[in-house]
Amino acid sequence: MFSRITGIGSYLPGPPVSNDDLASRGIDTSDEWIVSRTGIKSRHLVANGENASDLALEASKRALLAAGLDATDLDLIIVATSTPDFIFPSTACLLQGKLGNRGATAFDVQAVCSGFVYGLTIAEKFIRSGSHRRALVVGAEVFSRILDWSDRGTCVLFGDGAGAVVLEASDKPGILATALHADGAHHGILSVPGSVCGGKVTGDPFLRMDGQAVFKFAVRVLAEVADECCQAAGIASSDIDWLIPHQANVRILEATAKRVKMPMDKVVVTVDRHGNTSAASVPLALDEAVRDGRIKAGQKIMLEGVGGGFTWGAVLLEL
Ligand code: ACO
Repeated sequence: MFSRITGIGSYLPGPPVSNDDLASRGIDTSDEWIVSRTGIKSRHLVANGENASDLALEASKRALLAAGLDATDLDLIIVATSTPDFIFPSTACLLQGKLGNRGATAFDVQAVCSGFVYGLTIAEKFIRSGSHRRALVVGAEVFSRILDWSDRGTCVLFGDGAGAVVLEASDKPGILATALHADGAHHGILSVPGSVCGGKVTGDPFLRMDGQAVFKFAVRVLAEVADECCQAAGIASSDIDWLIPHQANVRILEATAKRVKMPMDKVVVTVDRHGNTSAASVPLALDEAVRDGRIKAGQKIMLEGVGGGFTWGAVLLEL
């Protein structure tokens, strides 16, 4: 049994917030600094009271519509998020309730910016085992809630959003190869090292990052895992039609494309308008490139994630 993506959807909250908008809100930064270091020009941010499950719901409705399915048809719901609505229940269960599905397997995956690639790989294995037939895999994040808005080195990098795919059992392969990795020895270079204890936040509840260490690590592992997936599928990187790496910043995308020997016109870039939306970035980019007609049926697409943990992974697929 194989699995194929049959529907894709995404959702961005509110109007774009430009770099100049951030500067005018009192952040000591400039459009020139942010664009030259990251390529980011704008991002979307949630309103008060809007949560990851709300963004996931809108993206999921669009993916279900594209697949021609009703939420009651799903037997597996996976939400990749590091910014869940609550400690528990899971955002997947909250989404399930909002969608009106009852009884499907539902759980969250916590692999930070690799979360969508982790979730899609898990769903593929559930379907290939024969236990499940119709999965919804969502990446949904409200990173604006875990940013220290007085830390200009991090707060300008991220945005909020959600992307979703429907993955269905099929007699011909859509997903061709997958690879997932993690190395917890590097947990300290990107983390939110706080927790809740005795009714209080203990430790630091904001995202902290060693930007240069993250940059070097991300470029190396994104190149390695793309090679690993190509080898597993028996193809060369020149056979890939579209590379969709996690959208952290344009310089990471350019350095990765160079190492994988792919021209930038085969790389889908949304980070300039979305910022880094963590687990949502890959399905957001996939949705955009499918809807605008760049990605066509039968083409080979490499999805790649890298994020806190450290975690990284890739999924090679045909639509
Ligand atoms: N506006 C203006 N100046 C700034 C800003 C800002 N937003 N942020 C930092 N600066 C200043 C610093 O204060 C510093 O000033 P100083 O020299 O007077 O001390 C100067 O700019 C350089 O700061 P660095 O942190 O050394 O800047 P660097 O060149 O490393 O760029 C960046 C920082 C863009 C974060 C870079 O390290 C990077 O791209 N890292 C990749 C990390 C990343 O993208 N993470 C996303 C999450 S990880 C993931 O998704 C996998």
